Amino acid sequence: MEMITLNQEYVKDFLKAQELEALMKKANEMNHTLEQRTGKGAEFLGWVSQPTMITQDQIKQIKDIAGRLRSMSEVLVVIGIGGSYLGSKATIEALSPFFTQKNVIYAGIHLNELYLSQLLEYIENKEFVLCVISKSGTTLEPAVAFRELRGLAYKKYGLKAKDRIVAITNPRKGNLLTLAKKEGYTTLSIPDDIGGRYSIFTPAGLLPIAYAGIDIEKLIDGARVMQIHSTAENKGNIAEQYAALRNALYMNGYNLEILSTYSAQLEYVQRWWQQLYGESEGKEGKGIFPAVAQFTTDLHSLGQFIQQGPRNLFETVLFDQHKPRLITVQSEPEDFDGLNYLTGRSVAEINQKAFEGTVKAHVQGGVPNIVVELPVINEFILGQVFYFFMRACGISGYILGVNPFDQPGVEFYKQNMFKLLGKPGF
Ligand code: PA5
Repeated sequence: MEMITLNQEYVKDFLKAQELEALMKKANEMNHTLEQRTGKGAEFLGWVSQPTMITQDQIKQIKDIAGRLRSMSEVLVVIGIGGSYLGSKATIEALSPFFTQKNVIYAGIHLNELYLSQLLEYIENKEFVLCVISKSGTTLEPAVAFRELRGLAYKKYGLKAKDRIVAITNPRKGNLLTLAKKEGYTTLSIPDDIGGRYSIFTPAGLLPIAYAGIDIEKLIDGARVMQIHSTAENKGNIAEQYAALRNALYMNGYNLEILSTYSAQLEYVQRWWQQLYGESEGKEGKGIFPAVAQFTTDLHSLGQFIQQGPRNLFETVLFDQHKPRLITVQSEPEDFDGLNYLTGRSVAEINQKAFEGTVKAHVQGGVPNIVVELPVINEFILGQVFYFFMRACGISGYILGVNPFDQPGVEFYKQNMFKLLGKPGF
């Protein structure tokens, strides 16, 4: 069975063996706490066992709804922000060809007027369906976008518009649930005990992914395998290892982590990771700042800083080891561009050497590197990646001593904004 692995070769020399051993012990304890639901934010731990708990009926329901939506449309507009869109976007971007027109597009991800007006124009003459996702049902960005988009849907399809709208929200309360019930939209739930950034394996992530034609069963299979691997009983599993390593580094002054990749299709996996770790850990004056970099592109922008800037940063590299040999360098009779030394090598092999050379250079420059090795990028492996990072995040947040499942700081800008906008009650 293909599994992701964690390579510690480029980090171990930065840490004292005893220190790491103590943190590995702590990581295992915290993993137990997560499983027994006795730590902070225990009411939000539904995601821990979700891959093994999700039923065939639930999967079928999601696939059926996605199939129905596909049969009546050319494009699905997903309306949601933060954890309500990043999981599906990460998966769809990672598994779709680079140069095809996407059939899943996103709205409500910011307050960009130009974007929204151009989106309305773009879909006006297309057959479209809407999937609005908001666990609270009150978030401003998706709510504003949804008001506009559903206006267009009613204008175009009349009362039949209701069959083209799916609402994914919490099962009990909120403006979105009230509206969906009143209008008769199909509704699906994000369980009460699963927070937005941990919701990729709920309908919030799975419905848009299924609409895009991606095999959600394989994705869940990958997550299930990683859930079983990550139990505290399996002491020293890779989720515990990653949590222990990053906390050991943090204790030694490394307070900025760069998640880097050499695979452009993983850009939104990086963004998903960034939200997961940023919102879960950055609180009470603590936390590792989560940054991202795309290599080799950013070796030509951030490479200098990483190599020789302040020594408070470490890297976690997501590296895809698959070498499909789709393009190999051909020999030319006259070696004008000086590339004949690469004859017979594929672009992926050259990318691999860029990775090996960069890791060595960064380590020599004083930047520890943790490497997460992906044998290939497919549904099964991505399911593992998502679950691995979520599990490690829960453990890591507990080691840090914070509640990894709330985000109280996000409210501050909202309070000011609502006051400025004159929202009743603010
Ligand atoms: O992780 C979280 O809980 C947040 O990032 C939310 O996903 C985000 O703020 C969107 O919230 P909601 O789904 O309630 O609109």
